[in-house]
Amino acid sequence: MKLWGGRFTKETNQLVHNFNASISFDQKLFKEDIEGSIAHVTMLAEQNILTGAEKSSIILGLNSIKEDILKGTLVIDGSQEDIHSFVEANLIERIGDTGKKLHTGRSRNDQVALDMKLYTRDEVVKINLLLKDLLTVLHEIMKDNLNTYMPGFTHLQKAQPITLAHHMGAYFEMFKRDRSRLDDIYKRMNYSPIGSGALAGTTYPLDREYTSSLLDFYGPTLNSMDSVSDRDYLIEFLSSLSIIMMHLSRFCEEIIIWNTNEYQFVELDDSYSTGSSIMPQKKNPDIAELIRGKTGRVYGALVSLLTTMKGLPLAYNKDMQEDKELTFDAIDTVKGCIALFTGMISTMKFNKSAMETSAKNGFTNATDAADYLVNKGVPFRDAHGIVGQLVLYCITKGISLDQLTITEYKEICPVFENDIYDAISLETCVGKRNTIGAPGKEAMEKVITINEEYLTK
Ligand code: ARG
Repeated sequence: MKLWGGRFTKETNQLVHNFNASISFDQKLFKEDIEGSIAHVTMLAEQNILTGAEKSSIILGLNSIKEDILKGTLVIDGSQEDIHSFVEANLIERIGDTGKKLHTGRSRNDQVALDMKLYTRDEVVKINLLLKDLLTVLHEIMKDNLNTYMPGFTHLQKAQPITLAHHMGAYFEMFKRDRSRLDDIYKRMNYSPIGSGALAGTTYPLDREYTSSLLDFYGPTLNSMDSVSDRDYLIEFLSSLSIIMMHLSRFCEEIIIWNTNEYQFVELDDSYSTGSSIMPQKKNPDIAELIRGKTGRVYGALVSLLTTMKGLPLAYNKDMQEDKELTFDAIDTVKGCIALFTGMISTMKFNKSAMETSAKNGFTNATDAADYLVNKGVPFRDAHGIVGQLVLYCITKGISLDQLTITEYKEICPVFENDIYDAISLETCVGKRNTIGAPGKEAMEKVITINEEYLTK
């Protein structure tokens, strides 16, 4: 059985059917399709468009279809064009002619817009919660590492000392913004398109407010043409998923670097690493690399849907069917990546002494040496030049700033006194940076308290 065919005199070419059909992927929407149909017929009965008995029979039939699909006794095969046709044909098979009334006052255009919104809305919430789990792990690492020194980098060159808590805190902020982007999308998308018909509403006295409240929407959408052809929320969603992947990918890149033999800042757990078929010594960060790699396909989904939508005249066009596979793939990819990433970092060991040693080498305290001179009255630009000379001198001798004798200091600038050593120690360099957002312990403790509170919400 087809949903259309009355005006056709020929069978559809098999290749055309295959090319046009979406059931191989939109079967993922069977629960949402049934949920939407139940709300629709509930409203139809309320408006006396269907009788109470018809409504009950349809709902019973729809629920039995859902249960049978879940149990596996009803298999969604490829004979129907899409999930909407499949459910309707099955309903008619089960309850007879009453089933033919399900589609009263509805089009597949508003139906699919609803199904996809219901599906996406759930996934927005699920991904948001996965990010919260990740933030909880980051928060624990931060609390444990307020005094774990490490070098901070710019240009991947050692710059100034920070702490591991501070470094993790940067990612905490990124994932916090990702969650708030998802919250925004939810708020903007949560309006119901059902009842918009094919494009121009219907002549039935539908109560769109009621259907929308049954489905937990804030209200009905306000333009039926837009309702059936709006895919903005998917583009926004794919865009926020792309940003999540970009953040994960940057983090993975750092972990891959930190996990190298050259850095040894971290060691990935055996359960989150893989080996080589030829090199017995290898323990590879494949999970981090794969997450970095999968970022490309999520970006691809975003660009693909933007491109699909750019030339479409109002209202519905079949091009829009292309929104599904890529969105489903992006959702599954992102969920998998967040979960794997969370597991990877919660089992990863931080090599605190390697981090601290690295922070001590590479002149990460040079800025503080210059600031020391400024505090003694030397103009900053002169101080910068003096410390530059000291660094050059140290490089030729193969030592660090704190290994210079006070005589050597004074030879280059007599302003230096014995308190220079304390002024350029790691403890001072980090501990004195206490403006909010900086790595000093006092400042970090304030942030930890704010984050703690954030995570209880
Ligand atoms: N499979 C279609 C889609 O995903 C459902 C809507 C079909 N509407 C239509 N007028 N052919 O967009």
